[in-house]
Amino acid sequence: MEIITTVAEMRRWGKEKVLKRREIGLVPTMGYLHEGHLTLVESAKKENHEVVMSIFVNPLQFGPQEDYSTYPRDLDRDSRLAEKAGVDVIFAPSVEEMYPSYPQLTTVQVSELTEGLCGASRPGHFTGVATVVCKLLNIVRPERAYFGQKDYQQVQVVKRMVEDLNIPVEIRTVPIKREADGLAMSSRNTYLSAQERKDALCLYESLKACRDLYEKGERESARLKEAMRKVIMSRPAAVIDYIEICDAVTLKPVTQVKGPAVAALAVKIGRTRLIDNMIFGG
Ligand code: PAJ
Repeated sequence: MEIITTVAEMRRWGKEKVLKRREIGLVPTMGYLHEGHLTLVESAKKENHEVVMSIFVNPLQFGPQEDYSTYPRDLDRDSRLAEKAGVDVIFAPSVEEMYPSYPQLTTVQVSELTEGLCGASRPGHFTGVATVVCKLLNIVRPERAYFGQKDYQQVQVVKRMVEDLNIPVEIRTVPIKREADGLAMSSRNTYLSAQERKDALCLYESLKACRDLYEKGERESARLKEAMRKVIMSRPAAVIDYIEICDAVTLKPVTQVKGPAVAALAVKIGRTRLIDNMIFGG
């Protein structure tokens, strides 16, 4: 496995593969890999000749009060895990390499889809995500790029950007990988203390409560959300950022579940903000 750190070298590598008609799958990450990231690699390996994983903690998508400086980083560990999973190249540029003329004057802003959910509590976050993903797609030129359903709004934003800007890539969504007890895997889970790790399970429990009620025939969002809220409120350490039930494509809140919908929530456990979601209906 190769580790490439410059844009020029990454482009050269990609061009050579394309000339040899080798299709490239890109898995964008911020590193500190867990099994969730590795399921994206698994999917990419099935459909492409070469798999590139980018590892870049993107300053543009973090707010001033967020965890950019403390975000966990360990390229040695990530390299071992990526190589074992069958990644061909890690693209790990520095901030200076990705943003040589900081601040970046050109950004990609996807409207509407970014107004609610995480977009409401993290202003500018999705502009940072869309901009870096657009740059990565332009540098690596993959045939396909892989994203986790774990970050549901992110996938919708990336898909819409690709459609609106005619970026020649297929976006694939990979299901959420969970711990044995149901907690969605996340690099940020490493911030949790033993007690917080137990409390963190309430996100998944609340989604299950929502699904159970839905399966019993409940269609009113207000009642579904109330059931979710009750589960979260039973954990004193948990503070709700949002609980929402949205149309699965437009991400607009719905009052009644009539078609494909997503129940999504963000909850702070101590100082750690966690997100999770579940798709149902339709
Ligand atoms: P990061 O949080 O490292 O996640 C990288 C990819 O892994 C994302 O597509 C995310 O949805 C997926 N992922 C994370 N946890 C997962 C899980 N439990 N199951 C399945 N997939 C999971 O998301 C980002 O980085 C960044 O915003 C990025 C897209 C790289 C742009 O900077």
